[in-house]
Amino acid sequence: MRIISLVNQKGGVGKTTCTINIGAALARLGKRVLLIDLDPQSSMTTALGAKGASPTVYDALRGSCALSDALLVHGRYVLLPSSIDLSAAEQELAGVAGRECVLREAIAESLGQYDYILIDCPPSLSLLTLNALVASGEVLIALQTEYLALEGMTQLLATIDLVRKRLNASLSLSGIIATQYDARKGLHNEVVATIAEAFPGALFKTRVRSNIALAEATSYALDIFEYKPKCNGAADFAALAREIAAQEERLE
Ligand SMILES: Nc1ncnc2c1ncn2[C@@H]1O[C@H](COP(=O)(O)OP(=O)(O)OP(=O)(O)O)[C@@H](O)[C@H]1O
Ligand SMILES: [Mg+2]
Repeated sequence: MRIISLVNQKGGVGKTTCTINIGAALARLGKRVLLIDLDPQSSMTTALGAKGASPTVYDALRGSCALSDALLVHGRYVLLPSSIDLSAAEQELAGVAGRECVLREAIAESLGQYDYILIDCPPSLSLLTLNALVASGEVLIALQTEYLALEGMTQLLATIDLVRKRLNASLSLSGIIATQYDARKGLHNEVVATIAEAFPGALFKTRVRSNIALAEATSYALDIFEYKPKCNGAADFAALAREIAAQEERLE
């Protein structure tokens, strides 16, 4: 069983797109997958057609419902939806003892039921993201192959280190995903080369190419395999999921 947070405090880099489609691809490999939307923007919830769902992860975090009561089935995988209410959780949790461990406790009852739990984080290093990192065994960083992609990485890695030291010694960085990649753009190749050099071995071989179908799929409330199984986006996420699944052997 692997619990993986998709993080980057930079907005719009592809965290949600990666969470949905890696999850969908892993489910197609026969894995039992739970996707947790931990972002008050609720992009993943909306993208999977569950906007307005209730109860949500917020209720589960507050303990006002059991986690299992908030789960929704989408095709071959399960979604724990979010809502804008979750923005209140930051403040409500601030004064609580063990405030970074609330998500870990909330999901504890469900652990045996999944092979993969993927957590889509908000674009911040907030208390919600800390909760995700404490609940996780692994982190995946989504990185757009654009100018300034590396900006913010130092702060992100320092946060991961701090969580490892103080809250969750078993947290490891499982990889960096290059997203919205365009091989024809010199800049994208430069950025990929820079990342590969700065973080040896961390970058997945599969790069998620820029593909409009990935954006379109969300407006139909479909993952890429349901929407256009033959497009580049589907091929990239299938390959990426195979790379991620292959890490299982290394972890054992
Ligand atoms: N590989 C891609 N090709 C084309 N469009 C993409 C790709 N990946 C993501 N997008 C689009 O870019 C936008 C931002 O992606 P996404 O929502 O996944 O990023 P995010 O990091 O989760 O954003 P936020 O920080 O706001 O949560 C979305 O409109 C999405 O459809
Ligand atoms: Mg997002």
